[in-house]
Amino acid sequence: MSKSPNSLRIVSIIGTGAYLPENTVTNRDLEKIVDTSDEWIYSRTGMRERRIARDDQATSDLAAEAAQVALADAGIGSEEIDLLIVATLSPDMFFPSTACFVQEKIGAKNACCYDLGAACSGSLYALETAKNQIACGSVNTALVIGAEKMSTFIDWKDRNTCVLFGDGAGAMVLRATGAERGVMNGVFGSDGSLARLLWTPGGGSRNPMTHDMLDRNEQYLKMEGRDVYKHAVTQMTQSVRDALAANHLSADDIKCFIPHQANARIVNAIGSRLHVEDRMFLNVEKYANTSAAALPIAIDEAVRSGRIVKGDLMLLVAFGGGFTWGADIVEWTK
Ligand code: ACO
Repeated sequence: MSKSPNSLRIVSIIGTGAYLPENTVTNRDLEKIVDTSDEWIYSRTGMRERRIARDDQATSDLAAEAAQVALADAGIGSEEIDLLIVATLSPDMFFPSTACFVQEKIGAKNACCYDLGAACSGSLYALETAKNQIACGSVNTALVIGAEKMSTFIDWKDRNTCVLFGDGAGAMVLRATGAERGVMNGVFGSDGSLARLLWTPGGGSRNPMTHDMLDRNEQYLKMEGRDVYKHAVTQMTQSVRDALAANHLSADDIKCFIPHQANARIVNAIGSRLHVEDRMFLNVEKYANTSAAALPIAIDEAVRSGRIVKGDLMLLVAFGGGFTWGADIVEWTK
């Protein structure tokens, strides 16, 4: 593998961290609030339980917890961060950015901070953005966080959606290293014509926060599940193929495929199409779909459990509202 063109710096993930709220809500707990069953949820999604944040915790609180773990793992202080990106669809508020709240909480006083909106693909987009900013030399050390308090934006009376999501945060510290390969060539795409299949239609400038809007429950996530399923499987499978081609690699070179944890059936369908079932990472049973947090939480688990060790290649692939999608290959250099 040749070095990146144009003398770009090679960027590595030098630390990871995750935070999951303590409160565990099982499928049996959900049976008490909507007409559902553990059997239905597990057979359709592979989910057994999810974590739900406390009322006094906002997304930035979850993000800051994950960030502290990632900084400790990287062995650096928060003042060394000069770029801080939070990927989220459940920000603390419209503005200022959740990233600015995280900055204050962790003392990253030298960081430039912003949020990135790409729904469940957000962390992957943020990873790519941070990599490129470091690679071209505009910053040195980046903190990329995916954090979600999905429980705030879910209609707990809608069994079609409320069983699918959970709260959590994951974080990655990035820096240029002397490695041969780090975060490699990514592939990304979007299709705004399909936005209505997965969205929160109310609360923004299109459909502002009025009593009527709230009466129609449009402040909550809406989803056409079957359509999302089909597009997610098709796009993530193609993104994996495209990322392998973009880096002149084959599936045999990848130690672990880490997909967005949307649900087990989606992950298994991708694994089956690519004939890599045994190398697909899956933790959706414990945390459900934590949207932008899912990928960095999964990376952290894969590394801490020893499933990924120095020199291994992992392939990250995501899909989410927008629709948005992408894939990146990362050599673990730590
Ligand atoms: N408990 C019991 N029954 C339910 C539940 C529930 N929680 N939710 C829906 N049902 C019912 C439906 O009402 C429907 O009943 P009906 O036939 O009487 O109308 C029946 O179950 C079948 O519904 P389907 O939609 O056909 O079920 P399907 O097998 O497609 O599974 C699911 C639904 C799990 C949502 C599936 O479509 C899916 O996985 N979609 C992808 C959604 C996803 O992952 N979204 C996450 C966000 S996007 C992302 O992260 C990539």
